[in-house]
Amino acid sequence: MEFYSPKTVEPTSIDGLIDFIKNNISEERRLCDTQGLVEQLMGVQHNTASILEHISASLSKTDDNPNTNPYGKNSFVLYRDNTVMLRLVVWEPREGDNFSHADEELFAYGVCHDHNFELMSLGLCGSGYTTHMYSYQHKGSEYVEGELIDIDYLGDFTLQQGSVLYMEQSKDLHTQSPPAQMSMSLNIIVDHGIKKKQVFVEPKTKRIVEYRGLVNPKSYIEKLHNKLTEPEFGINQSKAIKHPQRTASLV
Ligand SMILES: [Fe+2]
Repeated sequence: MEFYSPKTVEPTSIDGLIDFIKNNISEERRLCDTQGLVEQLMGVQHNTASILEHISASLSKTDDNPNTNPYGKNSFVLYRDNTVMLRLVVWEPREGDNFSHADEELFAYGVCHDHNFELMSLGLCGSGYTTHMYSYQHKGSEYVEGELIDIDYLGDFTLQQGSVLYMEQSKDLHTQSPPAQMSMSLNIIVDHGIKKKQVFVEPKTKRIVEYRGLVNPKSYIEKLHNKLTEPEFGINQSKAIKHPQRTASLV
């Protein structure tokens, strides 16, 4: 991971940032090692008109096709191609750790996870959410629930306006706490290379957990299976329902 504190930069635009990304990123190096990218991203905060224009365009596309924005009411996909996505996220304020289960589902508060893509986030406005960062070395094969995983705590970072946080693919883990003020962040998501399954960890025990916040086909089918095989249903319990693989992921 890398964290960049706010600094003075020239204003840029969403279109300018997209062009810069297309022309400069490379699979050969980490996204954060792209010369000038952090400054291009920081510069977007000074161009409110460009941001609003793209939010408006994103909303109109969503009207036509509900699949355009699969991330929920707090997210706006501003740009997307086969490798790169620009996504704006609105963070509603909460006091301390006083968040609901619905908040947890929408904002991923309190759930320690990695990402199987590169992620660079700009604090666009507001006091910003706080990210509690950890790192690990992926063992190369898929983890199973309850497995012990060696994680290192790296510190807490608040994405206040103008700061940038970079998280490495399948290496950095984080959980996050809500901001004190309404805040917005702008994410560059770069999705390339071999994708590993997303990892969820309970930081205190350092054990792999199944994330049950989002709709989880595997655990849902398990619940249905348990219900259907209760004695009063009279179903032969040996006829177990085949469990599908989880497809939901958390971003
Ligand atoms: Fe995340």
